[in-house]
Amino acid sequence: MKKIIITGGCGFIGSHIVEYFFHKYKESKIIVLDKITYAANVNNLINIKKSKRLKIIKKDILDFNILKYVTKKADLVIHAAAESHVDNSFQLNDDFVLTNVLGTKNVMQACKENKVKKIIHVSTDEIYGEIFKGSFNEKNRFNPSNPYSSSKAAAEMIVNGYIHSYNLPVIIVRANNIFGTRQHPEKLISGCCWSFIKNRKFTIHGKGIQKRTFLYVGDFCKALDVLIKKGKLYEAYNVGSTFEYKNIEIVKLIARINNKNLKKNIQYVKDRPFNDFRYSVNYSKLKKLGWKPKIKVEEKLLEINEWYINNIKRFNKRFE
Ligand SMILES: NC(=O)c1ccc[n+]([C@@H]2O[C@H](COP(=O)([O-])OP(=O)(O)OC[C@H]3O[C@@H](n4cnc5c(N)ncnc54)[C@H](O)[C@@H]3O)[C@@H](O)[C@H]2O)c1
Repeated sequence: MKKIIITGGCGFIGSHIVEYFFHKYKESKIIVLDKITYAANVNNLINIKKSKRLKIIKKDILDFNILKYVTKKADLVIHAAAESHVDNSFQLNDDFVLTNVLGTKNVMQACKENKVKKIIHVSTDEIYGEIFKGSFNEKNRFNPSNPYSSSKAAAEMIVNGYIHSYNLPVIIVRANNIFGTRQHPEKLISGCCWSFIKNRKFTIHGKGIQKRTFLYVGDFCKALDVLIKKGKLYEAYNVGSTFEYKNIEIVKLIARINNKNLKKNIQYVKDRPFNDFRYSVNYSKLKKLGWKPKIKVEEKLLEINEWYINNIKRFNKRFE
């Protein structure tokens, strides 16, 4: 692969994907197209930023002309740009529809016009909605339950249209909760590390008994690599783990690392308008291609917490 485009490559997951592909495919040039929203930071790519093999273009995927220009002769496009935070989506922020739906249409259209050879569309398990027992497979119906997941489900419908109408060579990836360094401190693990490091109380929605399975971002990058090599075009793949935790269990683990008394350092707040009780995906389709998740939350929490200690200033402006 000579030319790889990664949208949203300065965000949490996107930057890990960029680094992974940068090191794995040494013959490839990587172009990142990113609007650099509040959730992104070019310094997420600090270790490789100066390389001639990497180019960061600060542009919006709503700008079709730039997408058309950038995807020319691309061998692979990984579309990870999105508005990603469920809580923000409850404010009925138009960016969720604009970026996640219209932006995805632009990415697909540019890829179609430039006959891009392979496209990975990064979706989410939240398109299935909640499940109390068992796991969803790729054939289960969409049942999104918040504005974020609805916009991601709508994006998939757009992608589906391009697959069926034009045989656009897309593989859809539906991942469960992903964890690692560089996540904006608005999500469970990142927010909890940030609060305890700043000696703030961490707020928990409801009673903290919602369950989530967590996938390490490095395992996710490996899954993308397997799918690029062995995944079937035009199909969707769940990417997940069986490492399931209640929200409160994750908070307990982070409190222990930071020597915080749990009772004194958390504050329970009214739950979201709707908070899915549990998400879970069956990833046996991907497992058959030789991938499985390896890393549990406990194995990486110290490193993640350390990253927030070392980068705490980055977030001061937004949260003070
Ligand atoms: N975080 C998770 O647990 C998780 C789980 C499953 C799927 N996903 C999906 O993975 C992808 C990446 O999520 P993340 O957690 O890294 O999110 P993030 O918010 O950290 O990063 C999103 C990136 O997209 C960029 N972006 C936003 N709007 C843009 C626009 N209009 N034009 C160009 N760039 C734009 C941002 O600047 C940022 O760099 C998203 O598609 C998300 O839906 C995330």
